[in-house]
Amino acid sequence: MRIVPSLLAAATLAAGLLPNVALADATTGKNLAKAKCQVCHGIDGIAKIPIAPHLAGESQIYIETQLKAFRSGKREHEMMSVIAKDLSDEDITNLAQWYSAIKIQATMPTE
Ligand code: HEC
Repeated sequence: MRIVPSLLAAATLAAGLLPNVALADATTGKNLAKAKCQVCHGIDGIAKIPIAPHLAGESQIYIETQLKAFRSGKREHEMMSVIAKDLSDEDITNLAQWYSAIKIQATMPTE
C-alpha cells in the first residue's frame, strides 16, 4: 500500500517537470533557428524571402516530417536539402517545437 503515495508523488513530479522540458526544447530550437533559419523563415516564422514559406504556427508533426524528408532526399530543394543535411533528430524536434509554438492569427480579406 505504500506504493500508491509514491506513485502519486512521481506522477505529480512528472507533471510539474513536463512543461519545463518543453520550454527547454523550444528555447534550444529558438537559438538554432536564429543561427540557421531566420534569414529566410524569420525567427518569428514569418518568411523573409518570397520563395520561403511561413513556419509560424505550423504543426510540429508537419515541420518534422518535411525536415526529415529534405534530409533523406525524399523532398528536394536547392536550399533546404543543404540545410537539413546537418540537422540531427533532436535539432529537428527542437526547431519544430519552436516554430509550432508561435501563435498566429489569420485575418481574411474583406469582400
Ligand atoms: C536560404 C534560405 C533558407 C534557410 C536558411 C532555411 N530555409 Fe527552410 N525553406 C526555404 C525555402 C525556399 C523553402 C521552400 C522549399 C520548396 O519550395 O520546396 C523552405 C521550406 C522549408 C520547410 C517546408 C515548409 C512547407 O510548408 O512545406 C520547412 C519545414 C523549413 N523550410 C524549415 C527550415 C528550418 C527549420 C530552417 C533552419 C534550420 C530552414 N528552413 C532554413 C529556405 C530556407
